[in-house]
Amino acid sequence: MFDILFMQIFIQRITSYFINIINLFFFNNLESFSNSSHIKHLMKAFRADDYGHESNTNTGDIGYGWIHYGLIRQQKPNRVLCIGSRHGYIPAILAQACKDNGFGRVDFVDAGYDLDDAGGWTGEGYWKTLAGKNSFINFGLGNFISLFVMTNSDFINKYQSNYYDYIYIDGDHSLKGIILDFKLFWPKLNKNGYMLFHDVCVKGIKPEGVYGVWKFWELLKKRVSGIEISFLGSGLGIIQKK
Ligand SMILES: C[S@@+](CC[C@H](N)C(=O)[O-])C[C@H]1O[C@@H](n2cnc3c(N)ncnc32)[C@H](O)[C@@H]1O
Repeated sequence: MFDILFMQIFIQRITSYFINIINLFFFNNLESFSNSSHIKHLMKAFRADDYGHESNTNTGDIGYGWIHYGLIRQQKPNRVLCIGSRHGYIPAILAQACKDNGFGRVDFVDAGYDLDDAGGWTGEGYWKTLAGKNSFINFGLGNFISLFVMTNSDFINKYQSNYYDYIYIDGDHSLKGIILDFKLFWPKLNKNGYMLFHDVCVKGIKPEGVYGVWKFWELLKKRVSGIEISFLGSGLGIIQKK
């Protein structure tokens, strides 16, 4: 009797041991949180800028996308605003988070600047193309995001009554440009809402211009307590409106 019981326990242990080994070596990646073919599909469709957002398309690590996605899933904003994106990676993450919440909508504003436009800040003219205009609809995010191909100033003039619970700024990276974005959109952020700034760690002069978001962030940090996700080549700054 005891022998049979002992054998059964022994076989169970050995089986589970081998199953764990097989999982570890062959299916480890399948158990990862980021192992969703949909994540990789989104990253490829919207050309995730792996360098700029500390992400990795091969492993499905969405980098700063985790922060955006997590905040939106947890805070459940009704209205989200995104200023600037070359091919829509972060706007798509924001819209996907709203979709997964079952409500909420992103207004995505980009002037559609091209590489040879002064002040385009690495824009590639994508939002003026048909592929760009249809990209969110084609990906099944059409009910959760609207694209506005216009400048930040034109947008604010046209939609003066809009207010937001979450605002992400990744447009004009000059000091003057980020100050303008802040002046335009801070009053449009609802109480307890979040404002996020991309590239708060990038310094220096590059072909696209003199980076100034870091300087603005340094000044802002003296007045408001915020969170900084620091990476030399990018960086994300987060503040909440109290
Ligand atoms: C730095 S790129 C964004 C790159 C990027 N980090 C990403 O995720 O793709 C800046 C974008 O902002 C847009 N932009 C620049 N100035 C703008 C303005 N004043 N109003 C609206 N969009 C602007 C450009 O067209 C460009 O697509």
